[in-house]
Amino acid sequence: MAGLIEQIEPLKQAALTELRAAADLAALEQAKGKWIGAQGRFTALMKQLGTLPKEEKPAAGKAINAAKAALETALAERRGELDLLAARPATPTDFTLPGRRRPLGKLHPLTQVTEDIVRSFRKIGFVVADGPEIEDEYHCFDALNTPADHPARDTQDTFYLAAPAGAVAPASPASTPGWLLRTHTSSVQIRVMESQPPPVRIIVPGRVYRRDNADATHNPTFHQIEGLYVDQGVTVGDLKGTVEFVFRELMGRDVQIRFRPHYFSYTEPSYEIDFTNALVRKMGKEWLEIAGCGMVNPIVFENVGYDPEIWTGWAFGFGIERIAMLRYGITDIRLFYENDVRFLRQF
Ligand code: DAH
Repeated sequence: MAGLIEQIEPLKQAALTELRAAADLAALEQAKGKWIGAQGRFTALMKQLGTLPKEEKPAAGKAINAAKAALETALAERRGELDLLAARPATPTDFTLPGRRRPLGKLHPLTQVTEDIVRSFRKIGFVVADGPEIEDEYHCFDALNTPADHPARDTQDTFYLAAPAGAVAPASPASTPGWLLRTHTSSVQIRVMESQPPPVRIIVPGRVYRRDNADATHNPTFHQIEGLYVDQGVTVGDLKGTVEFVFRELMGRDVQIRFRPHYFSYTEPSYEIDFTNALVRKMGKEWLEIAGCGMVNPIVFENVGYDPEIWTGWAFGFGIERIAMLRYGITDIRLFYENDVRFLRQF
């Protein structure tokens, strides 16, 4: 039998090989027991130390301890490897696969168009203003110089309401003070001018209501954008240039604009704005009427306390749905309100 010291190294090598080859934690535990456990070979070697001559003991003890330490290290390393293997998923992740697309929410097409229009006007110094949808007759009609017998005030067109609790409508000179759902965003012109001195440069996107039956081009509620510009020396030329700028930003460089004389009680002179581009002509039309506008009527300035001798201004209003339909080639306005995801997903 070889001497004790000579046995250490070969045993250590055999133990290391076995520990490193352990296929799983159970095999590793078994190998640990076999070599460095209480009944293990190295423990047995330690016990044999006593049989050695005195002068050989220190070197042999040291060698056994060093071998055991190496085995402990190998054991811990293999345990770490096996733990990692156990944590690995049964089917490994293929990092070269394309990612999964997460469905993203979108803005409603009307919101997108509104935001685009607002962005264009902001570029040229307009700010967004807001006003109530539940309005009184004075702000919706009287202050805008729309007399009580004007067809716009016919119950056919307007949703009238009972007065909200505690509400006091401003005296309406030509009619009993009534409450209604605003029929246009022009009411906000009055509210803004009442609340601040000129100059004014605002746009007002908002919802309006009319007693129309829903069909392909009408809906009892829809959206408008109102614009109002008040300063000294404001001209129709400013108005036309502004409208042209915004529509070209919105619908492309080939857009053409035409002003046609019209009547609105709150502007004088008044115009309807006709619009055309390649798309309109493809629809077989020459011009499409798209907005109303004009120079603010001095009577309106007087109603809000602006001096018409000093201040001039223009205003316009147009339907957002109309623009969106034109922009996207939509032929039925009701699609905007149905919230059918197959429709909405396209924008
Ligand atoms: N309020 C009008 C409508 O609802 C649109 C309009 C026309 C607004 C002329 C204006 C304007 O500010 O000056 O049809």
